[in-house]
Amino acid sequence: MNIQLVDLEKEYKTIKKELNLMLDNLFKKCDFIFGEDLTLFEEEFAKYCKVKYALGVDSGTGALELALRAVGIKEGDKVIVPVFTFYATAASVCYLGAKPVFVDVEENTGNIDVNQIESVVKKNKNVKAIIPVHLFGQPVDMKSILNIAEKYNLIIIEDAAQAHGAKFKLSDGKWYRTGSVGICGCFSFYPAKNLGCYGDGGIITTNDKNIADKIKLMRDYGRTEKYEHQSIGYNKRLDTLQAVILRVKLKYLDERNKKRREIAKQYIKLLEGLPVKPLDIKNDVEPVYHMFVVKVGKRDKLREYLAKKGISTGIHYPIPLHLQKAFNFLGYKKGDFPVSEELSQEVLSLPMYPELKKYEIEYVCSAIKEFYR
Ligand SMILES: Cc1ncc(COP(=O)(O)O)c(C=O)c1O
Repeated sequence: MNIQLVDLEKEYKTIKKELNLMLDNLFKKCDFIFGEDLTLFEEEFAKYCKVKYALGVDSGTGALELALRAVGIKEGDKVIVPVFTFYATAASVCYLGAKPVFVDVEENTGNIDVNQIESVVKKNKNVKAIIPVHLFGQPVDMKSILNIAEKYNLIIIEDAAQAHGAKFKLSDGKWYRTGSVGICGCFSFYPAKNLGCYGDGGIITTNDKNIADKIKLMRDYGRTEKYEHQSIGYNKRLDTLQAVILRVKLKYLDERNKKRREIAKQYIKLLEGLPVKPLDIKNDVEPVYHMFVVKVGKRDKLREYLAKKGISTGIHYPIPLHLQKAFNFLGYKKGDFPVSEELSQEVLSLPMYPELKKYEIEYVCSAIKEFYR
């Protein structure tokens, strides 16, 4: 048997007809930049997240960078970032000449440890913002983030690159989608994401008109009219072609996220009693399992064994950000973030995509069982 970590071809087969009709339509209109489908997708995604504005951009990284610029982060500012996340969360802060200040994560979820944020904020001058990352599709404890942000006057920019459609409950008893509570929410449409396009793409969500207007300008050369440029902007647009694909896929996102939760349930049941510990899911959240991550001993040996059985796995992430060469200049050292360092040695992502069949999940779990026998 051959089981991929993520299988995009299987998803394509389910939407092929609908997608080809929509693409054909676009090719006839040749409406490739800022086309009608982009506007429609932005409206649909804003409605889905229950926010006023959604602005398509070139990637998740671009979304983070433009959001940080739009809220006014500048050289010398500091931004709180979890140390266990994808590189782009911290790199985007550096693009502005600002500094990421790392915080360790919870060992049972991999999300930022909200109990450590306050002491880090107190120790650092000029902390202006925080980027909670809804890692692997599980929302961060946003109640605590909102309280801390209010106390220290921090801007919240949610990194929802891995959490399209995930929900969390706040103190008012209401459920919110990721990306709808911070001043901005940043999403990636990298192909393997829960909502992915066929190339690079991203989107920024916000309820703030002023921020939305700034992003609109920045993503399109700072342009107000055809050859009139009000400010130094960028070329960070989302192509209409990608918007067409995303419009088709958005319709199925909730259904597909539900399937991911069902698959996770099956994994959790079948892995019970094995020396393999799935990351915990907290109360008051509805995760979307971008990845199904377990903590294991002898990780690399298990990974090799599974590969021999035709099962692809992933490691998210093998090096915490403070130990990445790119961030050497921040002055952190080994031992500074013990939980993330341990997780980087233990985490293993098992195959996860909505088309995964029960017999395939059983095959993965029995191969794991065999390994530990
Ligand atoms: C948590 C997180 N943030 C940001 C990004 C960057 O998104 P992109 O690859 O679309 O630039 C990713 C993508 O993998 C991500 O996982």
